[in-house]
Amino acid sequence: MRRRNIVLATVLFAGGLIALWLFIPPSISSSAQVSNSADAIARGEYLITAGGCISCHRGQTEETSEALSGGLALETDFGIFYAPNITPDEQTGIGNWQAADFIAALKHGRTPSGNFYYPAFPYRAYAGLSDEDVLDMAAYLLTLEPVSYAAPQPKLPVWLFRWTVAGWNKMADLSKPSQDQFEDETLARGAYLARNLGHCGECHTPRNDMGIPDYTREYAGAEVGDEVIEAIDAEALEEWTANNFDIFLLLGLKPEGEFVGGDMNEVIEHNTSKLTDEDRDALAAFFTRHHAIED
Ligand code: HEC
Ligand code: HEC
Repeated sequence: MRRRNIVLATVLFAGGLIALWLFIPPSISSSAQVSNSADAIARGEYLITAGGCISCHRGQTEETSEALSGGLALETDFGIFYAPNITPDEQTGIGNWQAADFIAALKHGRTPSGNFYYPAFPYRAYAGLSDEDVLDMAAYLLTLEPVSYAAPQPKLPVWLFRWTVAGWNKMADLSKPSQDQFEDETLARGAYLARNLGHCGECHTPRNDMGIPDYTREYAGAEVGDEVIEAIDAEALEEWTANNFDIFLLLGLKPEGEFVGGDMNEVIEHNTSKLTDEDRDALAAFFTRHHAIED
């Protein structure tokens, strides 16, 4: 009897440790604050553009199509997710959010109450953002016109609860994105824009059956439903010069004279065409860096 109790206690203790490991809240600096300075708001507006937030969060009616009021259905192999309202409406949006809530959501995929977002929200790419950039984005979001709109609940298989994402996150942690550091400032900026803010790999990096990106084949292309997403790794872009890439990011025009289609149109229209010339150059340098390395 006694032995059984010890076994039980050990199992419970181990289970508790595992639960703690899975559900432990992210540690976020308590000094984080959302600024209301005009500078922070202007930087935030640019970052929201570079982050492609509007592609998913734009409103679905004529009046809200320029607003970040949400409602777009994202159809995935795991079910249908809806982008929520991220305008500062207090009931249906992010009007009551504090600095730490923004960092927890964007960098850790955690809701203000500590629950888990589904990875249809590219928080794993945004995990590499600096806290400062996230807080600038928050500063801008909080100045927007509030829109009252609540997005539908996701339509998912019965086993897919929010807490299952805890385990998924831990498994996804095993496939680390490349951590290479660039001494060259342009390449470092390009890597930040590609891997983090611009989340290019969310579509262009292949995933396993569990939807976890395979970073050993970063940018090697993917299939989502029946859509084929081209590879944009060094091999695929062998013939592209940095200038070709620049023009592509601005206009969607490929070197062979064809315009890109599909979801990439949205990325060009709302995101890359609106970057500063320096940022477009940085992305072009990052993606075509193999030329520089070979030369
Ligand atoms: C690929 C589509 C996509 C992109 C791009 C995207 N999001 Fe989201 N976002 C989502 C989805 C889907 C959710 C909800 C996930 C869920 O239900 O668990 C979400 C949730 C959020 C939330 C939580 C809102 C709430 O009410 O709990 C915030 C804040 C947010 N996104 C901000 C951003 C910002 C800022 C950007 C740009 C830097 C961005 N998102 C880019 C799809 C996207
Ligand atoms: C929402 C998903 C999505 C995101 C995010 C995305 N792409 Fe794409 N991209 C696509 C799709 C889909 C295509 C193929 C479009 C077509 O069929 O013409 C494509 C095509 C391309 C091509 C053309 C490749 C070729 O050989 O024709 C390039 C280059 C490219 N993307 C670069 C980028 C960069 C750089 C980023 C990040 C700033 C990015 N993409 C982010 C979906 C995405």
